Amino acid sequence: MSEYVKILKATENNYDTKTFEFELDAEAKPGQFVMVWCPGMEEIPMSLSSTGKIKSISVKRIGPDTERLHQLKEGDVIGVRGPYGNGYDLSPGREYLIIGGGIGTASIMPAVEATGADTIIGGRSERDLVLRDRAEKAAKNVWYSTDDGSFGFHGNTVQLMKEKYAEKKYDCVVACGPEVMLFFLYKACQELGVECQLSLERHMKCGAGVCGCCVMDGQRVCKDGPVFTSAQIAEMKDFGVQKRDECGRVVKFRK
Ligand SMILES: Cc1cc2nc3c(=O)[nH]c(=O)nc-3n(C[C@H](O)[C@H](O)[C@H](O)COP(=O)(O)OP(=O)(O)OC[C@H]3O[C@@H](n4cnc5c(N)ncnc54)[C@H](O)[C@@H]3O)c2cc1C
Ligand code: FES
Repeated sequence: MSEYVKILKATENNYDTKTFEFELDAEAKPGQFVMVWCPGMEEIPMSLSSTGKIKSISVKRIGPDTERLHQLKEGDVIGVRGPYGNGYDLSPGREYLIIGGGIGTASIMPAVEATGADTIIGGRSERDLVLRDRAEKAAKNVWYSTDDGSFGFHGNTVQLMKEKYAEKKYDCVVACGPEVMLFFLYKACQELGVECQLSLERHMKCGAGVCGCCVMDGQRVCKDGPVFTSAQIAEMKDFGVQKRDECGRVVKFRK
C-alpha cells in the first residue's frame, strides 16, 4: 500500500534525530518498517517508531535523504509505502529484555510500549540516547549505557546486558542497533544460552521482497526479516561480517 500522508507533528529528539508523526490507516506490528519518500529524495526504509493509528518514524540525519526528511515540518506531505517486514514475536508469557543501540531505539520502542519489558538504551554519549521519555513511561526498568560514560553505565549495551542477565534471567533478548553491536550481542546470548531476536539492516530498494537487493545468505531482509531469530542468524555467514551497498559492492563491517 502506498499513500501520501500529512505530517501531524515534527519533534526534535536531539542534535541529529527528529520524529515525524502521521496518520496511516494500516495495521502494523512492532519491528515493521515503511518505505518513505518526498520530492528531492530517494525512497528509503524507516522503522515505525510508533505503530498505532498515529504512526511515526524517527530519523537520524546521516546523508542526503535523511537530511531532506529533516527539512520537513508539520503540514508537509510524505509518501509512505508499507508497513513491511515480519516484526518482533512478542508472544505473551515470556520475559523479554529489549535493547536499542543508537537509532535502533526507534525500532524497539513499539515493542517496549507493547510489553513494558525491561529495556536497555545505548549510545556513544548522553546526547545520542533517544526516546528516553517514552521508554521511561512504558518499561518496568530502563537502563542506559554510554561508550564515554557520560550517562548511565560506562560501556556498551552488550556489557550492560551481561550484568543485568547475571541478576535476572530472561527468556528472550530483543534488539536493534548497529550490526557490530548485534554481532557481539548474538555471541553473548549464545554463551548465556538465551534466545534472541535481532532486527537487521541491508540496502533496500523495493522493501517488499521483489528486487532481491537485500538478500543475505538466502533470506530477504525486507520480507523474511528484518527480525531474525538466533536459529536463523546461526546460518548467516554474512552476519557481522559484510553487507552490500547500493551498487552491490561488498562492504566489510570489520577488518
Ligand atoms: C529496515 C530498516 C529500518 C531502518 N530504520 C531506520 C530508522 O528508524 N531511523 C533511521 O534514521 N534510519 C533507519 N534506517 C537506515 C536508513 O534507511 C538510512 O540511514 C538512510 O537510508 C540513509 O540515507 P541517506 O541518503 O541519508 O544517507 P546515505 O549517505 O545515502 O547512506 C548512508 C548509509 O545509510 C544506509 N542506506 C542508505 N540507503 C539505504 C537504503 N535504501 N536501504 C538501507 N540502508 C540504506 C547505508 O548503510 C549507507 O551507507 C533503516 C534501514 C533499514 C534497512
Ligand atoms: S529490498 Fe527488494 S527484495 Fe528486499
